[in-house]
Amino acid sequence: MHTVNVNDKTFTSYITAAELKITNERLAAELALDYTDKKPLFIAILNGSFMFAADLFKQINFPAEICFIKLASYKGTKSTGNVITSIGLDIDLHERHVVLLEDIIDTGKTLYSFLPQLIHQQPLSLKICVLLHKPECTVFPVTIDYLGFSIPDRFVVGYGLDYDGFGRNLPEIYQLSEETKT
Ligand code: IMP
Ligand code: MG
Repeated sequence: MHTVNVNDKTFTSYITAAELKITNERLAAELALDYTDKKPLFIAILNGSFMFAADLFKQINFPAEICFIKLASYKGTKSTGNVITSIGLDIDLHERHVVLLEDIIDTGKTLYSFLPQLIHQQPLSLKICVLLHKPECTVFPVTIDYLGFSIPDRFVVGYGLDYDGFGRNLPEIYQLSEETKT
């Protein structure tokens, strides 16, 4: 089995470049059915989704725009949890069909906290396209409209996803090896 080391951990090959390509083509076809004449605005959430967004967007064969935002979560001093800050959402969503692009939904907290800011701008429609979903971990309800892969509760890196900042450059997705699972 092909393995890589990222920081102090070992990861095993999990989703290949070929599987990612097929899945991006499928997602683009699903999106084409719904958006061909709607000139949608894709909003990709940095950092993790940059590679997924780039590859998916290359497969989009109808008029569409893309922009990028960055969500930063900070540990709050209160038990109420994190504060989510959006950086770079300076586009008017009014009268637009919006599709969010996210690399992974784990607990769902990031998207759940951020969606009200988008809904507040009253887009014509708002849907969510996610490459990876860990259903066992999801505690904040988020409706996924377009999904790449449903995966088990095991940490993954590569294809934009990081482990403590590293591993994003790997062209395929790797899963934390069984023996080092924490
Ligand atoms: P959330 O728990 O759904 O809010 O996910 C928050 C963020 O955690 C995601 O956008 C990712 O950046 C990160 N994340 C969750 N699971 C993984 C993983 O397995 N590998 C790398 N990053 C992850
Ligand atoms: Mg992310």
